[in-house]
Amino acid sequence: MRFPTILAFGLALTVGLSCALAEQAGEHQHGGHKHHGKHHGFGDTEKYIQRFEEPARAEWQKPDLVVEMLQLKPGMNVADIGAATGYFARRMAKKVMPGGYVAAVDLEEGFVPYLRRRAYQEGVFNVFPVKGLPDDPLLPAESIDLILIVDTLHHIDEREAYYEKLKSALRESGRVVVVDFYKEKEIPVGPGPEMRLRATDLKKEFEAAGFVVEIDSATLPYQYILTATKKS
Ligand SMILES: C[S@@+](CC[C@H](N)C(=O)[O-])C[C@H]1O[C@@H](n2cnc3c(N)ncnc32)[C@H](O)[C@@H]1O
Repeated sequence: MRFPTILAFGLALTVGLSCALAEQAGEHQHGGHKHHGKHHGFGDTEKYIQRFEEPARAEWQKPDLVVEMLQLKPGMNVADIGAATGYFARRMAKKVMPGGYVAAVDLEEGFVPYLRRRAYQEGVFNVFPVKGLPDDPLLPAESIDLILIVDTLHHIDEREAYYEKLKSALRESGRVVVVDFYKEKEIPVGPGPEMRLRATDLKKEFEAAGFVVEIDSATLPYQYILTATKKS
């Protein structure tokens, strides 16, 4: 990675972390875990680490195929919003080496020790955990080539305002890729249908925010892959 990029990113993260700590005073706590709005929290990180990393997930999630399809190149900067254990972040980090990084954005700091340890074991040194805010991923302006959001967008309220933040974080022709569960299909994994978002609704939302959108419904059995490209 270019050194000035690291410095700029480090500064942005420090500022972001201070904002996040201040903001937490406004979140209510439940059972020792922080919750936001109507959504359940992921504070029981031990439980979720087991769930997100369980080997059987790869059969339907196909993480290597998904990352291959992103066509990442060395030197690109990527953000993974709702990164949790870094299931996708670690894989993407290998593709952007040398010279690129992955900002692993999440609200839960409890995943960070696991993410760091796994990344170290896998020889990945370009993943930076970022403690985002519920309504802001705290990414530096025009710094990111691709933002991946897997099974997380339904946790974000006020998406219209959130898309504006994604747009400002993206470089010219940057992309947001959303991987999420079909609302209309009966599927054996993921959240209940009441939580899921329709790909066609998201397409309209992203188009209204100034993106060009494509939906892939063929690659994964239970999820669509929506690509929203920022108009130049
Ligand atoms: C179902 S998990 C998805 C984990 C990961 N993307 C994966 O595929 O393994 C959702 C994650 O999103 C995080 N999250 C929820 N709301 C968020 C927000 N507004 N910004 C960033 N992360 C958020 C949660 O803490 C949790 O780790």
